[in-house]
Amino acid sequence: MRLNNYIGGSWQEAGGADYTAVLNPANGMELAQVRLSTKEDVSLAVKSAKEAQKKWALVPAPKRADFLYEIGRLMKEKKEHLSQVLTKEMGKVIEEARGEVQEGIDMALYMAGEGRRMFGETVPSELQDKFAMSVRAPIGVVGLITPWNFPVAIATWKSFPAIVAGNTFIWKPATETPMMAYEMALIFEEAGLPAGVANIVFGSGVEVGTAMIEHPDVRVISFTGSTETGRHVAETGGRHLKKVSLEMGGKNAVIVMEDADIELAVEGILWSAFGTAGQRCTACSRVIVHTDVKVELEQKLVEAMKVLSIGDGLDESVKIGPVINKKALDKIHGYVGIGKDEGAKLLAGGNILTDGKLADGHYYEPTLFTDVKWDSRLAQEEIFGPVVSLIEVSSLDEAIEVNNSVKFGLSSSIFSRDVNKVFRAQRDLDTGIVYVNAGTTGAEIHLPFGGTKGTGNGHRDSGVAALDVFTEWKSIYIDFSGKLQRAQIDTD
Ligand code: UN1
Repeated sequence: MRLNNYIGGSWQEAGGADYTAVLNPANGMELAQVRLSTKEDVSLAVKSAKEAQKKWALVPAPKRADFLYEIGRLMKEKKEHLSQVLTKEMGKVIEEARGEVQEGIDMALYMAGEGRRMFGETVPSELQDKFAMSVRAPIGVVGLITPWNFPVAIATWKSFPAIVAGNTFIWKPATETPMMAYEMALIFEEAGLPAGVANIVFGSGVEVGTAMIEHPDVRVISFTGSTETGRHVAETGGRHLKKVSLEMGGKNAVIVMEDADIELAVEGILWSAFGTAGQRCTACSRVIVHTDVKVELEQKLVEAMKVLSIGDGLDESVKIGPVINKKALDKIHGYVGIGKDEGAKLLAGGNILTDGKLADGHYYEPTLFTDVKWDSRLAQEEIFGPVVSLIEVSSLDEAIEVNNSVKFGLSSSIFSRDVNKVFRAQRDLDTGIVYVNAGTTGAEIHLPFGGTKGTGNGHRDSGVAALDVFTEWKSIYIDFSGKLQRAQIDTD
């Protein structure tokens, strides 16, 4: 199967000479091939998006929303198929893949609702017989760059608010997960979305991503990916005065206080640390534990980790699937080596798994370190794999300080039954998302998603906040006095 770009409502072969193979991370089997696009392909896509945008902006927003309702309905109808493709292509276990597709469906319906809201303001004018209001206006053509770890959900967080607000888009999916983008293109087509509203260009970040950011007609770039690439996107976008929305790394912590429900904390840690094999921006990668419950938590975690089954995510009994590729596997294993060198104590895991059926895939054993120093590399850098570091503290203040010591600020969590501790923590944890008595994952689509410090640059995906990325505020003053009234002057 060879995947082609989706430009202006038709399938177009990319101009690049190179193909890349899409491999199932669970077993190394080839699933598809994609031809890598060039700068010229991006220009074609931008041209078609620009033409389509003029008309699309004039379609009433509730009518634009009707397409999203239809897209949501089709995603629901094809939920099992999409989930299967997602698991094959990306590796996450099928139950999580179903959850991710559901997240996309939720986003379609939620953003469709925005078609009948998209609130602006009406405010009194300081002058007589004058009317004042603000409306959200579409921006134009927007560029979306999405990662492989949530190939459907994150694409919907960006593309659905973009189109309901009257923009058209060029989407560059990660080279590892083009099949999900292809599936979404089929759905856009079946939903009857006008040609040119949605455009998908496959290719590398260096070639296609850069061409999108540098193209004068692409007015917004919404990017999710690594901090390193995000910095490049922001620098290049900044030179071209683009609006750039970034969602980048995390080093998220679960805090377990002495009064926590330890069994519940163990469940929360396992789910948020090892779900999606730890490859979530929101994955729990640190556990900050109070001295009084450290040993109990360690024992219970190690016990619970023993029964986590690892394998092909299509097998319903499997709890942890593969990581995306060999490069990721090597990076994760490299960090385990760094942890050992730094003197952290390995309590469980720490190995690449190659036995039997696992030999052809990329599997890493769920790994737990303890006695990790808060300022070590293991505790400070994003690993993006199933590796957790336990850090001991003796008070809530210290826990919060350790949580906030990293350069990222995406998600955090506290397990405690003390309402005072919980309220102080939610106020003082410097992250864009805070969970109480739950792990660090599980964001719902109708609240803002994003983080502070090195995680982002002040913008948010999801929720109404996403509309801020994809609209301009336009303030409109209508004077019906029939005379010149000067603001700030003719007010008496
Ligand atoms: C990510 O962490 O990369 O909050 C996205 C969650 C999902 C999205 C996570 N709704 O776990």
